[in-house]
Amino acid sequence: MRIVLLGPPGAGKGTQAKQLAKALGLPHISTGDILRQNVTEATDLGKEAKDYMNKGLLVPDELVTKMLSDRFVKPDVNGGFILDGYPRNINQAKVLDGILSGMKMKIDLVFDLDCSEPVIIQRLSGRLVCRKCGANFHKNNMPPKKEGVCDNCAGELYQRPDDNVETIKKRLLVYKDEVAGLIKYYQDQGLIQKIKADGQAEIVLKEMVALVSLVSKKNGSSKD
Ligand code: AP5
Repeated sequence: MRIVLLGPPGAGKGTQAKQLAKALGLPHISTGDILRQNVTEATDLGKEAKDYMNKGLLVPDELVTKMLSDRFVKPDVNGGFILDGYPRNINQAKVLDGILSGMKMKIDLVFDLDCSEPVIIQRLSGRLVCRKCGANFHKNNMPPKKEGVCDNCAGELYQRPDDNVETIKKRLLVYKDEVAGLIKYYQDQGLIQKIKADGQAEIVLKEMVALVSLVSKKNGSSKD
């Protein structure tokens, strides 16, 4: 299955993508995670992307496209993938289609995670991320067992620099500017499944897994 996750910042794309990837045995590709890794390692891409990210703006398409093309050369994507954070606009959606068509593949399913603004702000302003393994926690909703320490790998938990209220609001505006066209693009192809993502993470995941299973049956395969 080749699955794309759309949704505003804080809708739970990363949280659900990780669980879905585990449940389906597929790689989770997060453009946000790859960019943050580049920022941490101070690569040329990271140095160029950092300012855009900290301001809540999209990193220019040409930088992200090159990064995505490099990721899709790795053989683990051949059996399917969960793509989180890409595409963010029609241009990126067309680039993705181009990469996939060169590999004789196409998207099977696009989840559109819907979440209200107050919930988004509450979630993001309390989010904690592990520096080592990238796991997500939340100060109140999903607190780690030990304060400041990742349950999975004992790495240090930190707050993302773009998770302050002002930048969250900017990210939401950027998302709203682009999303309608993107949803129409995938709706026209019959790929969109809307998910109410305000509820408990486990319930959201259950609904997504059920839809994946339905679509794979419809497409005639559980793996491809
Ligand atoms: P990216 O990292 O993709 O950030 P985002 O889209 O803003 O999304 P988030 O990671 O903030 O939210 P999420 O939906 O994944 O929520 P999460 O699961 O973490 O991108 C960051 C930046 O990189 C962009 O602003 C841009 O600059 C750049 N970028 C990335 N991709 C790009 C692209 N393609 N083109 C150009 N630029 C790009 O959940 C949030 C919190 O809520 C967590 O604490 C979690 O524990 C909690 N939570 C999640 N689900 C639930 C639930 N159901 N109930 C309770 N709490 C929950």
